[in-house]
Amino acid sequence: MNHLISPSILASDFGNLQRDIEMLNHSEADWIHVDIMDGMFVPNISFGFPIVEVAKKHAAKPLDVHLMIQDPDRYLERFKEAGASGITVHFEACPHLNRTVNAIKDLGCKAGVALNPHTPVGFLEDIIEYLDLVLIMSVNPGFGGQKFIGNTYKKLRELKKMSSGRNAKLFIEVDGGVDDSNSLKLINAGANVLVAGNSVFSAKDPAAAIRTLKHPH
Ligand code: DX5
Ligand code: ZN
Repeated sequence: MNHLISPSILASDFGNLQRDIEMLNHSEADWIHVDIMDGMFVPNISFGFPIVEVAKKHAAKPLDVHLMIQDPDRYLERFKEAGASGITVHFEACPHLNRTVNAIKDLGCKAGVALNPHTPVGFLEDIIEYLDLVLIMSVNPGFGGQKFIGNTYKKLRELKKMSSGRNAKLFIEVDGGVDDSNSLKLINAGANVLVAGNSVFSAKDPAAAIRTLKHPH
């Protein structure tokens, strides 16, 4: 599968959200990554339903919603209603992960599970077949613009190996500190969805930055 690009609107200009989403519509972005932080699971609060609804209103591409929140089961339906195509929850926030994943699928959304940098890929051994997506965090979640953690490559290779026989269609997403200096290496390690916040929205020409991530060399 050719890899996908999912720019994170956390790094966009909220005063010009419509403009930035329209830029993504016209770019080579495949999905639009939406980071939800609750100030409990992570030490930061991002935004909630009203912003997701605005994103949905203008987006011509699927919303890839990343929930960095405790007890996400309470809000799955509302994120679906707000416009999520895929919903990713954190392994560390879900004591009944199998139930949570089923609830996401029952809503008709793609079901994803995110792993913090210290959480071993092996913890997904008994759920990998049921997932549409695994998100490997390559920074500690909570903030954009952090430094990429090098251990990510090893985790991607492990996940690729674990999933290849058992769930070959799995989306393997990497999130945090992704830019054109590591994109090719990430793809070679097994990633097939790249999330990028600052490397896209801080660029002089964000659509060109997306193009470079889509065609790395
Ligand atoms: C971090 C978020 C990321 C973030 C990525 O907690 O999950 O999606 O927006 O931002 P960059 O690409 O700037 O590291
Ligand atoms: Zn994210």
